[in-house]
Amino acid sequence: MGKLLLGNVLKGSKIALGCMRMTALDDAAADRVVMTALENGIDYFDHADIYGGGESENIFGRVLKNHHGLREKIVLQSKCGICKGYYDASKAHILEAADGILRRLGVDYLDVLLLHRPDALMEPEEVAEAFEALRRSGKVRYFGVSNENAAQIRLLQSAFSSHLIINQLQFGPAHTIIVDEGMNVNIHSNHAVVRDGGVLDYCRLNNITIQAWSPFQYGMFEGLFIGSEKYVALNTALQEVAKNYEITVEAASVAWILRHPAKIQTIVGSMNPDRIAHIAKAQQIHLSRQEWYKIYLAAGNPLP
Ligand SMILES: NC(=O)c1ccc[n+]([C@@H]2O[C@H](COP(=O)([O-])OP(=O)(O)OC[C@H]3O[C@@H](n4cnc5c(N)ncnc54)[C@H](OP(=O)(O)O)[C@@H]3O)[C@@H](O)[C@H]2O)c1
Repeated sequence: MGKLLLGNVLKGSKIALGCMRMTALDDAAADRVVMTALENGIDYFDHADIYGGGESENIFGRVLKNHHGLREKIVLQSKCGICKGYYDASKAHILEAADGILRRLGVDYLDVLLLHRPDALMEPEEVAEAFEALRRSGKVRYFGVSNENAAQIRLLQSAFSSHLIINQLQFGPAHTIIVDEGMNVNIHSNHAVVRDGGVLDYCRLNNITIQAWSPFQYGMFEGLFIGSEKYVALNTALQEVAKNYEITVEAASVAWILRHPAKIQTIVGSMNPDRIAHIAKAQQIHLSRQEWYKIYLAAGNPLP
């Protein structure tokens, strides 16, 4: 099935399961979702302290408790820094948030902790102090960020002596900003606008793994492009690829993300065991260049 080496240091599956929507499940259903992911080669789980106000981590913690030894078999990641009405990347908040995450998950350590969103009032030295303290105490093994541009990562990295290994960004067939600018250099086009400081190439150059969140959505939580009337051509192109490889349209969408040579990890948020099992097949698919570009164009993107 093949694994990724995130940040060149941490082994994990090409697909991660995002647990943002786990609050919709009872404990038995959550157990089925986690077991299905594992049976299909997905061993990486993404959380955030705000998902369901902490309830997603509570539910996941009860699943872990019911399966002796499971904690050591998985990669566990969570995020902090979003509060109601403001962002908080202060040292005190990060330390307190990490303790809350560990308590709710019922574990001694996290494999990865990410800053969920850039905080305009962030002091890089404070974040670095918090990260160092968490690393030294053994509470967190690795660190990263989410929704950050290249300069923001560089700023934080300048104060932090360990390697930031992850940047979680929205990316998928209907949200292609990180690749658009690179194909439209020096052109008068909306697609040429550099919105993230060249974050894709920055991450590749610095061994920072990009994790793609909300792979099946368009806009920011506007809806699913799969089956949407707004994306007829994209759905047709994905259906063709899906038919060719005998996979689902969701798996074809994930295969499109995984085809990028940056070795992007895809965080899927399905809480449906059947859908998860089908999506997992994307881990064995390698799309051709022609298929990748056909999907890109079908989403309404131009090539100069
Ligand atoms: N860093 C950030 O700022 C950030 C922001 C958002 C999310 N995330 C992370 O990314 C993860 C994934 O986000 P997401 O859940 O928005 O991503 P997603 O995988 O794009 O969407 C999952 C949702 O789409 C539904 N779905 C998928 N295919 C479908 C189909 N054919 N028909 C009907 N419904 C379908 C799923 O329903 P079923 O459950 O029925 O399959 C589920 O509700 C989150 O869990 C979280 O870990 C991070």
